[in-house]
Amino acid sequence: MNGRDETLRYHQEFYSRHALDEPGTWLHKPSKLVLRALDQLPEGPVTVYDLGAGVGRHTLPIAAAVPEGSRVIGVDFLPLANEKLLQNAAEAGVEVEAVQADLEEFKLPAETADLVVGISALEHVSNLEAFEDLLRRMQDGTKPGGLHCLEVFYDRYEIEMTGVVRPALVEFPLTGEELDDVINRLYASWTRIEEKRGTGTVEEARNGEPYKLMGSNLRLLARKP
Ligand SMILES: C[S@@+](CC[C@H](N)C(=O)[O-])C[C@H]1O[C@@H](n2cnc3c(N)ncnc32)[C@H](O)[C@@H]1O
Repeated sequence: MNGRDETLRYHQEFYSRHALDEPGTWLHKPSKLVLRALDQLPEGPVTVYDLGAGVGRHTLPIAAAVPEGSRVIGVDFLPLANEKLLQNAAEAGVEVEAVQADLEEFKLPAETADLVVGISALEHVSNLEAFEDLLRRMQDGTKPGGLHCLEVFYDRYEIEMTGVVRPALVEFPLTGEELDDVINRLYASWTRIEEKRGTGTVEEARNGEPYKLMGSNLRLLARKP
């Protein structure tokens, strides 16, 4: 199994078993950074992209907060995520668009986005060059004065229940140094409104064997000049 197949398998199973807002899962609550990003949006209708949107943990609160006439577009490569995103939006009485696409090549129309959200998703591309290319496409698709709200995991590893540590089965092993280098170059002229580092643990299972996926994360809210 390679990292891409594992990402597909994990999310397919996870979304089949767990509902949006379910306590005890990472679907329980949206990231507060995304909610704070909403306070920074301009008045009037806006265009927001949620990349790797999943089942709408952030897409839905965004759609509920933006004024009529706005577009909120969730992008995910998993058909089940798109289906559940639309279903959850209908139940919540909000309007979103669901696009099935791979972030590896997804291109936003030039300078159209007021906000691009990418929470725990952008690192799911094939290698460091593809990650940098994705960030550049996101930047090109953002209006001057528009926002990026990102959470990116790096230095990831797995711990088996026996305590054995092993490399994480992910698309590519993004390191903290590599992430810093890309962010410092690409966001040099952007205003960094918030930038925080933390750590995260997700309890998962593969082939019936439980393990913990651990790593560090960067949370960044930045404004394009
Ligand atoms: C950890 S989940 C996060 C979902 C959502 N952002 C949230 O915070 O609830 C990662 C999501 O990214 C999607 N994803 C992973 N790799 C992707 C890719 N290359 N292109 C599009 N979507 C991808 C997965 O299907 C999954 O829904």
